Amino acid sequence: MKLTSRSVLRAALVSTLVAATTGATVLLATSASGAASTLAAAAQQSGRYFGTAVAANKLSDSTYVGILNREFDMVTAENEMKMDATEPQRGQFSYGNADRIVNHARNQGMRVRGHALAWHSQQPGWMQSMEGATLRSAMLNHVTQVATYYRGKIYAWDVVNEAFADGSGGGRRDSNLQRTGNDWIEAAFRAARAADPGAKLCYNDYNTDDWTHAKTQAVYRMVQDFKQRGVPIDCVGLQSHFNSQSPVPSNYQTTLQNFANLGVDVQITELDIEGSGSAQAQNFQRVTQACLAVARCTGITVWGIRDTDSWRASGTPLLFDAGGNKKAAYTSTLNALNAADPTGPTTTTTTTTTTTTTTTTTTTTPGPGPGGCTASVSLNSWNGGFVATVKVTAGSSAISGWTVTTNLPSGATVTNAWNAQRSGTSGTVNWTNVAYNGRVAAGQSTEFGFQGTGSATGMTPTCSAN
Ligand code: G3I
Repeated sequence: MKLTSRSVLRAALVSTLVAATTGATVLLATSASGAASTLAAAAQQSGRYFGTAVAANKLSDSTYVGILNREFDMVTAENEMKMDATEPQRGQFSYGNADRIVNHARNQGMRVRGHALAWHSQQPGWMQSMEGATLRSAMLNHVTQVATYYRGKIYAWDVVNEAFADGSGGGRRDSNLQRTGNDWIEAAFRAARAADPGAKLCYNDYNTDDWTHAKTQAVYRMVQDFKQRGVPIDCVGLQSHFNSQSPVPSNYQTTLQNFANLGVDVQITELDIEGSGSAQAQNFQRVTQACLAVARCTGITVWGIRDTDSWRASGTPLLFDAGGNKKAAYTSTLNALNAADPTGPTTTTTTTTTTTTTTTTTTTTPGPGPGGCTASVSLNSWNGGFVATVKVTAGSSAISGWTVTTNLPSGATVTNAWNAQRSGTSGTVNWTNVAYNGRVAAGQSTEFGFQGTGSATGMTPTCSAN
């Protein structure tokens, strides 16, 4: 039988999976040469991120922090940015624990998903008893205050969380927020956009994984409506909490693709899959492959690090065991990421103008030669500011480090950056790789980004490999 490269790879993955379930430790030796050895580095090869939920009170646990810093490049606060944590008394905001997480992430060059600005659950006591216009106003003030406080530090906000009902009805969930009027969700998105134009704005929910479910369809119709009417929405988060009662649906990839086809990014935001051994490993592999197959599925976040960190600890649903050891599910996820098509996810290649932002993509040099690299930039701009996402692509040979030079137009100043070290904040700025993204396999890519004030339109990055 003729062995195609795909079947060779599949055979390698299967043998690796078997090795993992039998407790072998030299797993990466059996994967394709040049494979990345951490989740973040493997995801970055196709321009994606790999994140985790983090609890502030675990940042003093050295095993936890060791895995966090090694494996992940995106962080979500598990509880610390929720409404009850950030506004415990009306008008009095409290960011201590959230800041601990955000500062840790940014010091490590990781990005942050904000979770969540408006939600029927985990409201502070003062809000739970509110209704009507008073509640609407308090909710919008909360969205504005929190998104403004974190302006420039958040990659994507879960602006509204879990607003749809379970079951066959396909409608909104009843809550005090819903009773303020059906437009409460779009009002929250508009307030978030005004407060932080550089953050992607997501709608996030659970049980929206099966394309045939009424709840999935209802969320889809809302996103479609928002896009048609120009309500600012950039992404849909599928929480993806799976177990035997709620297994990974066979049409999961279809769901991701259909949302993406509406013109939004799709993110897997709270992934956990109860189980163990090879069955669990195969489920994680399927979910990862589904994301990789959808160009606008931009990243995966697991809902905790070790099984014992999980909200469903007894179901052992995560990638590391209680001792912090890699599980078979870790290996299958890593291998799936390493097998990704390096061209995805795609960035916008045309200019799109919405009411508040403009996205343009500029590619500089014609094509990477041996041992070289190219850089392209995607700009999300608004009046007075911008977010630049820079894609570094290796030539026909692997590179072990890179430097990108950007010439910022006069008046533009960098305020923060992720996934790269910089020299300077204006004019000519050099960007060099950080520890986990210097190595880029032949023809593959990694991304870094920065935010700034002023206009960066016309910036053309150049790349040199080292
Ligand atoms: O911190 C207190 C502690 O001081 C107290 O002794 C203890 C007693 O119950 O409670 C602790 O707080 C708990 C907190 O988790 C931290 O462990 C809360 O009671 C508990 O309700 C809270 O649960 C969180 C849950 O959201 C609340 O809705 C989980 O950690 C968190 O993983 C979970 O995350 C949600 C996402 O935000 C949205 N999607 C579903 C996902 C899973 O439920």
